[in-house]
Amino acid sequence: MACPLCDDTGWKPVESAGVRRVERCDCWREGLTARLLDQARVPPRYRRCELDTFVTYANEKLLGAVKQARRFAEEFPANARGLCLIGPPGIGKTHLAVAVLRRVILTRGARGLFYDTRDLLRVIRSTYNPLVRTAEMDILRPVMDADLLVLDDLGSEKTSEWVEETMNLIVNTRYNERRHTIFTSNYEDTPDDAGDHTAETLKERIGFRIHSRLHEMCDFLEFDGADYRHLPPNGGPEDLVMQWNRMKAAGPRRTLPAKAKGPIRAQLRQPDARPPRELGWTGGKAGT
Ligand SMILES: Nc1ncnc2c1ncn2[C@@H]1O[C@H](COP(=O)(O)OP(=O)(O)OP(=O)(O)O)[C@@H](O)[C@H]1O
Ligand SMILES: [Mg+2]
Ligand SMILES: [Zn+2]
Repeated sequence: MACPLCDDTGWKPVESAGVRRVERCDCWREGLTARLLDQARVPPRYRRCELDTFVTYANEKLLGAVKQARRFAEEFPANARGLCLIGPPGIGKTHLAVAVLRRVILTRGARGLFYDTRDLLRVIRSTYNPLVRTAEMDILRPVMDADLLVLDDLGSEKTSEWVEETMNLIVNTRYNERRHTIFTSNYEDTPDDAGDHTAETLKERIGFRIHSRLHEMCDFLEFDGADYRHLPPNGGPEDLVMQWNRMKAAGPRRTLPAKAKGPIRAQLRQPDARPPRELGWTGGKAGT
């Protein structure tokens, strides 16, 4: 059905103080937003995520994370560092990351890009072809070049030599070119000397090199909270508060996967394709 305001021309007639003129129609603006978000690959489920629709409640770390996310969007692109949002499932990490991405796309005209880390690695892997290198470059170039990249669910892919090389390449290139990245992860950034070592840490998941880079290039925002996915239908902020109070009363929780037995790195090493040499990868024995 054609737009009743502009008949799909994108320009709607307006009249003020007896003067008739045309201006951009709302449908055009919405279409533009949709196109930019399409290009940014924001999954449909998250397309409406905004900072202003993020429900907050008395939860100090969550409030702090939202505040820093807002500040990041306001300062973009002059920020010193990116963000790394860490916490258990359902607390709104992806929502916040996308909300910032959307905002800088819409207010700064930034070239934004969203990738689930595992999807990205799968796509790169699937395009890997030693004879035709262009396909993987088509994927990697925008990832390297985006003004703001969201890499969602870091650590969800078990590390391997290939994964580490590829991630290093992406992270290092962006770091060297001063391009910002927002990461999200379920894996806690527990210090090596922390007593309880029953859960896998971020460092173990992603490897020490990327972990160290991440600390250089990002502010870490670790928070916990009520799981939004467990809200009753038509639930609201009161339900979040109730859930959160119950969780606090129950004491600290461990929601992350327990450690695999044996030396993880050796276990996870797997023969695999390698990242493209054109992008700086120079060695390794896998995938020849
Ligand atoms: N505080 C909030 N206000 C409004 N919506 C929220 C909030 N927190 C989460 N949501 C919504 O709940 C759903 C789950 O949130 P999201 O996917 O961002 O969680 P997550 O922390 O990334 O979880 P995971 O670790 O499983 O990836 C999304 O649809 C998101 O928009
Ligand atoms: Mg998420
Ligand atoms: Zn219109």
